[in-house]
Amino acid sequence: MYTGLQHAHSGLAYLVLLGVAISLLAALAGLFGGKTFTDKNRKLGLLGLIPTHLQWLIGLILYFVSPLGMASASGDAMKDSTTRLYVLEHPLMMVLAVVLITIGYSKAKRQVGTTRGFKTIAIFYGIGLVLILSRIPWNAWPGN
Ligand code: HEM
Ligand code: HEM
Repeated sequence: MYTGLQHAHSGLAYLVLLGVAISLLAALAGLFGGKTFTDKNRKLGLLGLIPTHLQWLIGLILYFVSPLGMASASGDAMKDSTTRLYVLEHPLMMVLAVVLITIGYSKAKRQVGTTRGFKTIAIFYGIGLVLILSRIPWNAWPGN
């Protein structure tokens, strides 16, 4: 089960980055184009939301089955930057990013028919993407 989840989490990371980036670019285009936020624009927000939700669920399970997750949590783990990344920084920052993206989608959903939805998505998905990029284990992913 561990290997399967590890591969799923690793592969889904591409879709998360791609989905959030497309949602963000579409929102920026709408924002600067001064358009009305329609239901079609809301659906573009789902491109970022869906892979992100799936990824966080897989990550959460992975945290309990991976030797790099909870199993390696200790005082010493905090002294090493790589173990601290997996045990603490990656999970915490990713959860924060998922929460921000979910709040962004949720707010924007209620702004269909106004011009404000684009700005909402742009801000929340934008900060979310920066947080995600900041705590991806770049020395292990995408691998070689
Ligand atoms: C949007 C959210 C997330 C993204 C984009 C993401 C991305 C990644 C990537 C790219 C890796 C490296 C995979 C590899 O070595 O090939 C990784 C590993 C890992 N992630 Fe995440 N992650 C996310 C959320 C989470 C969350 C919420 C948790 C835990 C609560 C988590 C726990 C882990 C663990 C434990 C590993 C190490 C797996 C192993 O190699 O044993 N991730 N993540
Ligand atoms: C423990 C896991 C999960 C939690 C706590 C969670 C939480 C949430 C929350 C709070 C929303 C509300 C957004 C709104 O206000 O409309 C939402 C929406 C959504 N989630 Fe998740 N989610 C989880 C897992 C998943 C998974 C595994 C998927 C499947 C890929 C998923 C797909 C979606 C979709 C498609 C929506 C948007 C629904 C809509 O159109 O309004 N979620 N989720």
